[in-house]
Parts: sequence; structure tokens; C-alpha cells
Amino acid sequence: MITEKLELSGGLYEKSIEKAAEILKSGGTVAIPTETVYGLAACANSDSAIKKVFAAKGRPQDNPLIVHISDMDMLYEIAANVPKQAVKCAEKFWPGPFTMVLKKTDKIADSVSRGLDTVAVRMPANKVACDIIRKSGPLAAPSANLSGKPSPTSAKHVIDDLDGKIDAVVMSGSCDYGVESTVVSLDGDTPRLLRPGAVTVEQLKEILPDIIIDKAVLAQPESGSKVASPGMKYKHYAPKTETYLVEGNSQAFADFVNSKKNSLAVCFYEDSDKIIINKLTYGSGNKEITLAQQIFSVLREVDNYGVSAVYVHAPSKSGVGLAVYNRLIRAASFRVISL
Ligand code: TXA
Ligand code: MG
Repeated sequence: MITEKLELSGGLYEKSIEKAAEILKSGGTVAIPTETVYGLAACANSDSAIKKVFAAKGRPQDNPLIVHISDMDMLYEIAANVPKQAVKCAEKFWPGPFTMVLKKTDKIADSVSRGLDTVAVRMPANKVACDIIRKSGPLAAPSANLSGKPSPTSAKHVIDDLDGKIDAVVMSGSCDYGVESTVVSLDGDTPRLLRPGAVTVEQLKEILPDIIIDKAVLAQPESGSKVASPGMKYKHYAPKTETYLVEGNSQAFADFVNSKKNSLAVCFYEDSDKIIINKLTYGSGNKEITLAQQIFSVLREVDNYGVSAVYVHAPSKSGVGLAVYNRLIRAASFRVISL
């Protein structure tokens, strides 16, 4: 299969949006930009297209997909018994990097929900994504990476992983946030944070004061245990190089990594001058959003260094830092060193 590259610049915007929607409506797969990460989209009502998404990614069969919508009518088509809290969240956080898990209607095929009675729904803010969804209808879209690899934040990452495995990729710029959406389940009694993202716990508490943070956000699910969000139990984001997450202040981190041989430090700008071993910076430790924006592209570079270990300076767990920490603790297979 040849993956078509749909360019947006040079007056090609309308034509490429039209083409993307056409491919999707005829049962194909298209990688599209969103404000979080690139998604690999298929029409949410096409079982055969969704099958292609799972095959291209090598995605575990029990991991359900997020359905992306462009207006509230689409929400009521696919979600049943939408609670008041969900409407409030939609008003506050949509369009944006926020996903709600709700009871599903019979319009949602089993190929999307993978046996659950719920559906995850998000209204993205990215203009390209919205323009496509308006023409194609609701799109099921996981992140457009090979399963297990860091999520793609540029069209190049998508091509590195999926060239020849999908019908097309929309060639847009880097994603604004760089980490996947915040996922909250609102289908039970108490709202539950399943995955932290750019909509922070602090913001969620303004609307959902009793929200519970699922224990899988920061801890390793026990093997064989049931997790609220199937995606939480899989190995994720991990370089092949043995990765450690290191908690401590800038000087302590620098002293620690400087004593390591044949290693790579993934550090904050603020640490950089103190570090004398191989290093990659991934943003400012004081500005977590910069860490979110760069963490996945940095994780994709780690294996090029041919070192035996990589030590990543852990972000704070507040604000967007919690989302970055959640991805890194998985990249590090839950190996955390506290200095
Ligand atoms: O920002 C994002 O959310 C990106 C962009 C493309 O929208 N999408 C994304 O999709 O990250 P994916 O498939 O990589 O991650 C979706 C997560 C998985 O952990 C999955 O298990 C969970 O959401 N999920 C999906 N449907 C669910 C459901 N019905 N109940 C619980 N968890 C669900
Ligand atoms: Mg993913």
C-alpha cells in the first residue's frame, strides 16, 4: 500500500481536507493532526476500517478507541444517558484535549468499544481535524503510532511508524500540547480520572469536585487485574534502552547522572549546563507544558545514542506535569529513582 501525503500548504488545504474525508467515507484510514497528538482515523461506523486501524498499529484487540466529534448532535447520537456533569465538562473543556467515557448507544459498534458498554468521546479543537470530521462524520482514532511506541507529535513520526500501512497522512505541523487527551469516566457513580492530560486535575476539580484519580495513573496495574481503561495496562512509550525516571532537584540530578558511564540524561534546560554526559533537553522544569510538547519526540531519539541506560529528570506531578509523569513512568517500566 502507498501512503498518500496530503499537503495543506500552497493552496491545497480544501482539496486535501476533501480527499481525507473521501478516503475515510470509503472505508480507508487517514492519520490526522489534533491539538494533542496525531490520530489514526477511521469512520466510527465502519467495522472493516476499524479493523485496518488495529492491524496497522498492531494494537491489542481489547483496547477500545476514542470517537472524535465536531458538534454536540454527534455526542447524543453515540452516548446514552449523558449526565449533567458531562454537559458541564463539554461546555468547559470542548473543543479541546478532553475525553469523556459515557454509556454508549447502539450506534456504536463493538469494533469501537471492544466489548465494553461505554464509549470514549472527544471534540478536538484542531481546525484540520474539525474540518475533516464535519465532512466525514464521527471518527474513531487512536494515536497514530505503532502500539507501544511514543505517540506521534509530527507527521514525520507518523510516517516513521506507519508508512505503507495506512491510506493517507495529513501533513500538518507539530501538535500544540504533545500529550494525549485527559480521559475521565463519567459512566459510573463517581467521576474518575483514567488518564491525565493537558486539562489538569486542578481544572477538573472545579467542575467535578469529587473526582477520583484512578490508581493506574501513577502505579503499575497488577498483572491480570481489571483496569478501568484497558490502555493503562500495556507497556507504552518505552525506548528499547533501559529507562529510569529520576526524582530530585537540578544539582542532585546532575551529580547522579554525571557518575554514570555509557548513559544518556534526558534533562530540563535548567540542568543542562551542569551535565557532562550525553544529554537531551526536553523543556523547562518550571513550565510543564514545554515538557509535554517535547517528551515524545525526545523519547523517539533515545535509542539512537546506543547507550546502556537513560535517566530522565522527573517533572513535578502538578498541572500538566502529572500527564508527563504518567507517560514517563510507563516509558521507564515503573523504575523510579528518588534522590
Ligand atoms: O489525545 C488523544 O486522546 C488522542 C488523539 C488522537 O485524540 N487519542 C488517543 O487514543 O490517545 P489512544 O487510543 O491512543 O488512547 C485512548 C485511551 C486508551 O488508553 C483506551 O484504553 C482508553 O482511552 N479508552 C478508550 N475507550 C475507552 C472506554 N470506553 N473506557 C475506558 N477507556 C477507554
Ligand atoms: Mg495511544
